[in-house]
Amino acid sequence: MKNAREVVRLVASHRQTEGGGFIIRRPFPVPGLQQVDPFLLVDEMGPIDYPPGEAIGAPDHPHRGFETVTYVLEGETQHEDSAGHRGFLGAGDVQWMTAGRGVVHAEMPSSRLMKSGGRMHGFQIWVNLPRRDKFIAPRYQEIKSATMPTGTSEDGLARVKVVAGEALGKKASIETRTPIVYQHWSLQPGASVEQPLPPEFNGFVFVFEGEALVGPDGRAVADGMMGMLGAGDVVKLAAKVKTELLLLAGVPLNEPMVRWGPFVMNEAAELQQAADDFRAGRMGEIAR
Ligand code: FE2
Repeated sequence: MKNAREVVRLVASHRQTEGGGFIIRRPFPVPGLQQVDPFLLVDEMGPIDYPPGEAIGAPDHPHRGFETVTYVLEGETQHEDSAGHRGFLGAGDVQWMTAGRGVVHAEMPSSRLMKSGGRMHGFQIWVNLPRRDKFIAPRYQEIKSATMPTGTSEDGLARVKVVAGEALGKKASIETRTPIVYQHWSLQPGASVEQPLPPEFNGFVFVFEGEALVGPDGRAVADGMMGMLGAGDVVKLAAKVKTELLLLAGVPLNEPMVRWGPFVMNEAAELQQAADDFRAGRMGEIAR
């Protein structure tokens, strides 16, 4: 018996600056909505067209206690960290970084984009780690666009990139610490799909182009809006105009969560410890 999830709350994203000063669209965290357990943050970066020499990134900064997931839609970024990882993300690539006990990293536009300018558009999502995993070793997983599992509906009107979880018979290659669904759906006018979403998952959609019609009654979720999903075991996604959206869902950790900037822990004392460890250099530094 399928029970279609309804949109139970609409949240408008707001704009603010992050990192070295780039503009993002963010539905949460905001006062009153600190997280959608286990998700801690959703940032859409751009789209923005940088003139030569003006692209902005996020220079050296730490993280502890959660995961950062970067998905580049357009443009290029390069990253490096205190654990010795170096990477490059082009359009369609995903980096799933498990900060664990702590890492210092830099997330910057590529040197080509810095020099010549160009368009940047992408997402960064923060996924919380359960208490048992807060101090695991940092890890990187990178999926290139060409190897991203991608599915298409029978009528060809809906296409999905499966970053985490499973959709249209395609399974993600990323390993997550707790069960996570991260899907990028591209809907053409007239598209209508049903995506299973087990009842124990918290879930929401974030629309970043067009307008999605979500749930059994086709509630409109406009560009820049997040639609939180209620109880059920399947989500209906449809569109009358070309629409792009992320479907994010995960099993809630149901643990105490405290956050301070780049650190997310279970207890306040652990935030102080994280700040002390970072200041004392115990999260390392980037070798250059
Ligand atoms: Fe970061």
